[in-house]
Amino acid sequence: MADTNFDVIVIGAGPGGYVAAIRAAQLGLKTACVESRETLGGTCLNVGCIPSKALLHASELFEEAAHGTLAKWGIKAKEVELDLDAMHAGRLEAVGGLTKGIEFLFKKNKVTWLKGHGKFTGPNAIDVAGQAYRAKNIVIATGSSVTPLPGVEIDQRRVVDSTGALELAEVPGHMVVVGGGVIGLELGSVWRRLGAKVTVVEFLDQILPGMDGEVRKEAAKIFKKQGFEIRTSTKVIKAENEGEGVTLTVEPAQGGEAQTIEADVVLVSIGRRPNTEGLDLESAGIQLNQRGQIEVGHDFKTGVEGIYAIGDVTPGPMLAHKAEDEGIAVAEILAGQIGIVNHEVIPSVVYTFPEIAAVGLTEEEAKDRGEVKVGRFPMMANSRAKTNREAEGFVKIVADARSDRVLGVHIIASVAGTMIAQAAQAMEFGATSEDIAYTCHAHPTHSEAIKEAAMAVTGKPIHI
Ligand code: FAD
Ligand code: NAI
Repeated sequence: MADTNFDVIVIGAGPGGYVAAIRAAQLGLKTACVESRETLGGTCLNVGCIPSKALLHASELFEEAAHGTLAKWGIKAKEVELDLDAMHAGRLEAVGGLTKGIEFLFKKNKVTWLKGHGKFTGPNAIDVAGQAYRAKNIVIATGSSVTPLPGVEIDQRRVVDSTGALELAEVPGHMVVVGGGVIGLELGSVWRRLGAKVTVVEFLDQILPGMDGEVRKEAAKIFKKQGFEIRTSTKVIKAENEGEGVTLTVEPAQGGEAQTIEADVVLVSIGRRPNTEGLDLESAGIQLNQRGQIEVGHDFKTGVEGIYAIGDVTPGPMLAHKAEDEGIAVAEILAGQIGIVNHEVIPSVVYTFPEIAAVGLTEEEAKDRGEVKVGRFPMMANSRAKTNREAEGFVKIVADARSDRVLGVHIIASVAGTMIAQAAQAMEFGATSEDIAYTCHAHPTHSEAIKEAAMAVTGKPIHI
């Protein structure tokens, strides 16, 4: 008979869960991971980070070829055609390769995959597909799902969530994105590049909530220039799905005259909520906070002995790398080591063009805590960005006025997602803006803009 007793059982095999399981096994703990999907990797690998980046990459190449960017460099592509089926095949290949890769890693590290839906039957006991299992410690890593919009029913054809938006069989004439956050702008970018008109309906007065104010303003300007129609301070009242199209009724957020918008496809992307339904958390004695999340301490302990939680199901940014780092830390704690995640330094990236990346405090948040100095440097003055004709955006560094310690870094640039890593590392090491300014950066690179922004904190950039 198969093993039913483990040192650790992890529920959920997303970036939080599968990483926790692998690390726990590496550290000598007898580990199982419960996953109800057909493939491992969770939201991120199956219907999130990976497939969305595959389509973002492919659609960017298409736009460069079809809309003259390549031609401006002397590369003439005649009769550029979109083969959407092939593009989707590329997406599925990426997902298939990576999810199979996790299965291989489970085998290599001797992690047992318990296939099926897991639910608690007691603090140290769970049931998976009718079979009882016990573990000294259980880690909840069940992730999150799309937040539904009341009155707007998702059919994954005309009204889709992010999963449906990754799989559209044809390019919609008009796509309306409800929610001007990360998913709306990334997947909106994909379909705009492939030929759709995209309208973003955002409830707040600006897109990208949570980001630095200056970044939000500049990003909206850039997206509008790209052809996005952005309707802020607007709420959706209802969606009538007529099969071949959808009529959306919208209203000013503060109330007022209603209007209708005709759409071929509506993407609902108004946030995600933690997956706790069906876990029978009551049998384990776990309670949720007001947002439906499982509260944990720095050691990822829930209020119940032997039960831990990580990733999207807990408070904090819903990001794969945050979940992964928590996965490593919780496994190390369970193995008797010291597992730590510095939640002050979690980078975030929006993979649009240009990319938008941030780490640490926004200028607004930093000012609420004390006096700050801010250095900015436009990508227009960065030689590499200018040469590549991708000069939109800027780097902004927020530092403590007295200690000069870097509190936050915000970047809009073609490769902001890659650039932000050095800012995160600098902050992790407690760097001052002067430390960054006096670090030699290779020339010509986009990253020199970070050095110049750091020099600008004390008012002495060279190239502006
Ligand atoms: P998940 O990845 O959600 O995994 C949880 C797993 O648990 C799921 O596979 C689920 O089936 C399983 N599960 C749940 N309940 C049970 C149960 N009771 N029994 C058995 N199994 C169960 N983040 C980034 O950092 N970068 C990106 O570029 C990015 N892009 C994204 C794009 C999209 C379209 C979406 C939707 C999300 C994106 N994210 C991105 C967010 C990222 O996917 C999540 O933050 C991340 O997947 C969270 O990891 P997790 O392990 O907490 O949960
Ligand atoms: P989000 O929180 O980023 O954005 C949701 C947007 O919808 C907000 O601007 C919000 O004000 C707006 N909104 C809420 N209710 C609304 C309503 N009724 N009408 C109109 N607008 C409304 O959430 P999103 O885009 O759904 O993404 C969910 C999460 O997935 C993100 O928070 C992020 O953590 C993760 N993600 C990360 C990515 C990355 O790291 N590149 C990519 C995609 C998703």
